[in-house]
Amino acid sequence: MKVAVVQTDPQFGEKRKNIDQALHVMRSVSADVYVLPELFASGYNFLSIEETRSLAEPFRHGETYNNIKQFAVDRRCYVVYGFAEIDDDALYNSAGMIGFDGKEEVYRKIHLFDREKLFFQPGNLGFNVYDTPYGKIGIMICFDWYFPESARTLAAKGAQLIAHPSNLVLPNCPNSMPTRCLENRVFAATANRIGTEDRGGIRLSYIGQSQITSVKGEILHRASSDRLEVFVDEIDLTRADNKNVNERNNLFKDRRPEYYV
Ligand code: ACM
Repeated sequence: MKVAVVQTDPQFGEKRKNIDQALHVMRSVSADVYVLPELFASGYNFLSIEETRSLAEPFRHGETYNNIKQFAVDRRCYVVYGFAEIDDDALYNSAGMIGFDGKEEVYRKIHLFDREKLFFQPGNLGFNVYDTPYGKIGIMICFDWYFPESARTLAAKGAQLIAHPSNLVLPNCPNSMPTRCLENRVFAATANRIGTEDRGGIRLSYIGQSQITSVKGEILHRASSDRLEVFVDEIDLTRADNKNVNERNNLFKDRRPEYYV
């Protein structure tokens, strides 16, 4: 299957512009699954709950959903994208997965980072793996990578590819994903953003370096730290199914949970 990682440069609050930018880059390549950054349409650096609410959408309604769905149907593909979700009165930092075939799933970020805790509820839907026409895809969002249990849980549930929408501000993720992928024998597609958001005295710079990482921990592709980019890698997801390291070691069967906290 072909996976596209889309690295965008959102402007805070400019939803229409940010969606158009993403669609423009996405249209320039052909892929089965496109992965977009966390909160790609709204921007990230919120200042209040009211502001977050004003940019949030229910999962199956609104500008972001409608545009992504149309793209998925037109291009007969799947798209995983980060968005600010409102469900009743609760706000979540979420990622939707929309397929051309009607598949629609949502993941709500479990490990909120820093000031996200001021605006969003922690995710309450768990880590889930979804069957797609290409293979089994699990989703985590940005800072979830920092907790090895996130990727571990997705791999244990059968994920072959982890779609990883991100807005990375710390430098560590790109060089850490090879370990996450190696220890779980899973592919990962980390889609990050670029640019700086300087709002209300809070300045955040995003590191770019979106990446596709293989089951062997190889960096198949890494984007620049400062350019709008999309890249596509062809990957064989079945390589994620064999968890044997050698004749005597298996990544999952050799676990010793009785000694773990
Ligand atoms: C992050 O989780 N967006 C750093």
